[in-house]
Amino acid sequence: MLKLAVLGSGKGSNFVAIQNAIVSSGGILADKARVVLVASDNAGAGILDHARAFGLPAEALPKGAFKTKLEPEIEQTLASLIRRSGADLVVLAGYMRVVKAPLLDAFPERIINIHPSILPAFKGLEAWKQALAAGVAETGCTVHWVNAEIDGGDVLGQERVPILPGDTAETLHARIHEAEHRLYPAVIARLAVELGKA
Ligand code: GAR
Repeated sequence: MLKLAVLGSGKGSNFVAIQNAIVSSGGILADKARVVLVASDNAGAGILDHARAFGLPAEALPKGAFKTKLEPEIEQTLASLIRRSGADLVVLAGYMRVVKAPLLDAFPERIINIHPSILPAFKGLEAWKQALAAGVAETGCTVHWVNAEIDGGDVLGQERVPILPGDTAETLHARIHEAEHRLYPAVIARLAVELGKA
């Protein structure tokens, strides 16, 4: 069983997709993984409400002074929480902080992220809006290992999504979300086997 700690800042639809793949009979993650911790840098995040509704441990981190990263002490607290949870893999699911040394050093080669573009294209924030503005015909989503380079770690899996005439930022992001909800559980299922946990 691969034990997951899931980190998110927002509504948590990717977490819900992962948890549904665990608890649904015949789900791609049934008997392969379980969530041991959900944590957020945003005490009001929907992901924490979803975690509580599933009866899973849900932790809000103290509010720090910075916007794009956690203060080192808070990230150290997060690393301790994850360590105590016994997680084998840290799963970033809409986690909007740049991961720094306290977490990277605590879990080397054990942190993955989902990003709403076909990396290396459109790194950074609101990648679906970047794709729309660039006028490309397709975009998608990527699951990758997390390292010190933002959206720069090795790619674990990708799914392409067409950009359709009349797409708005909302319709395009919704289509990318659907792909993410397939891709993330599938990549985690593969990792469970590759890491010798399933
Ligand atoms: C997802 O589209 C994810 O790819 C993106 O935030 C959304 C979270 O949705 N992540 C990033 O942009 C990270 N740079 P969710 O909270 O419903 O899972």
